[in-house]
Amino acid sequence: MDLKEHIRAIPDFPSAGILFYDISPLLAHPGAWQATVDRLATIVEEHKPDVLAGIESRGFLVAAPLALKLNLGFVMVRKQGKLPGATIPYTYDLEYGSDTIEIQADAVEPGQKVFLLDDLLATGGTMNAAARLLRSAGAEVTGAACIIELTFLKGRDHLDMPIRTLLPYDS
Ligand code: PRP
Ligand code: MG
Repeated sequence: MDLKEHIRAIPDFPSAGILFYDISPLLAHPGAWQATVDRLATIVEEHKPDVLAGIESRGFLVAAPLALKLNLGFVMVRKQGKLPGATIPYTYDLEYGSDTIEIQADAVEPGQKVFLLDDLLATGGTMNAAARLLRSAGAEVTGAACIIELTFLKGRDHLDMPIRTLLPYDS
């Protein structure tokens, strides 16, 4: 099955000149979404993680079905101010300004093997920040996976763990 048939490219979103790769048709097609989850599950299993981590918000869509399929727990990496109780933050630079993500302080245990999931790898800034955050909490990040990779942005060059993606786009 060609999963790219279920990705919709929308020009000039969220701003002029940006080509947005929309996963909505993939989510809306049970067979294609099942195939996506199955392909990611094969990758995740190779890493034998103790727990999965999904990055808010589209990363939750990816991590949740994989957690159920693989019988693993699932940790939410969230944007600042969304998680109750004690949290561990990580602030990272954007092109303009900065952003902060968080996990709950007890979300991972020292030495736990965590596998990271998101829908899309662009500059790699989000994935790199999530990996650093989890490591600051004592976890070992064994790898990461996304559905889509914008290869022309070379995001994987900024990552220091194995990263696998299903659908590369070179423009
Ligand atoms: C998008 C996408 C990734 C991230 C990739 O999320 O879902 O999480 O950007 O970009 P990067 O590799 O350049 O960091 P976005 O922040 O748009 O929010 P959403 O997932 O909540 O829709
Ligand atoms: Mg996102």
